[in-house]
Amino acid sequence: MKGIILAGGKGTRLYPVTKAINKHLLPVYNKPMIFYPLATLMLAGIRDFLIITNPEDIDGFKRLLGKGEDLGIMISYAEQYGANGIAEAITIGEKFIGDDFFTLMLGDNILYGSALGANIRKGIETTAPDTACVFAYPVADPERYGIVELDASGNPVSLEEKPERPKSNWAVPGLYIYGPKAIGLTKTLKPSKRGELEITDLNQIYLKNEKLQVMALGRGYAWLDMGTVDSLLDTSEFVRTIEKRQGLPVCDPYEVAANHGWIKAAS
Ligand code: DAU
Repeated sequence: MKGIILAGGKGTRLYPVTKAINKHLLPVYNKPMIFYPLATLMLAGIRDFLIITNPEDIDGFKRLLGKGEDLGIMISYAEQYGANGIAEAITIGEKFIGDDFFTLMLGDNILYGSALGANIRKGIETTAPDTACVFAYPVADPERYGIVELDASGNPVSLEEKPERPKSNWAVPGLYIYGPKAIGLTKTLKPSKRGELEITDLNQIYLKNEKLQVMALGRGYAWLDMGTVDSLLDTSEFVRTIEKRQGLPVCDPYEVAANHGWIKAAS
């Protein structure tokens, strides 16, 4: 299983800050944003990563994470030329993916909750070469996200990107698990009205072919994304609150690596 983290885009809603700094390197309370998705995928046992970002930003990520040796993982890097859509990460990652299964996570998403690593692992273990697995999380503002409608048994019925009239309040977080067939399917996608290769369009193909698994994440989880100044601050406050209360780090990749025995724990 391989992990791809997408950390490109222009971060325009955070201008002027992100004119000079890639959004995913900004601090979220006490660590860079990219640590959070990285730690989440590491929790699920993933050790082989591709970070995709803008050509001008790659050096910053390399300074921060290198080849992953300090974390007992492997990190390679690839460039995305323009915000051409989340699904483009799959064709950019074609060589890296090879014939493997992979998990794609958006660099500005945080997922936090008990047994999250085990849940992602379950998604990984139940994905076949021609299937995909996404998660569903209830939100109060469904028009902002990819939305999945579920039937009474929890099976997906429809999937829409930022619908004006949402059919449900189940948002699809930016964490997607695919078998290697995803590469070929991504190549059939056409850019959407906003000029992007939409991840929701790819997932719709899986849904149409009855190859999409949806795992609902209940109310005991936190899912936050950080596209705006308010959500960035809200997330920092969330992390600070939990860390201060528990005296334990939230999504610290060094702690995760030590717990897995990939590196020695700091004394
Ligand atoms: O956060 C989850 C949502 O992410 C999903 O529910 C939606 O279905 C999905 O389309 C996406 O929605 P957004 O339109 O809000 O994504 P945004 O453009 O904000 O980009 C999300 C992250 O991906 C962000 O960290 C920047 C990065 N990105 C995005 C695009 C389009 C790239 O690195 N390259 C890109 O081309």
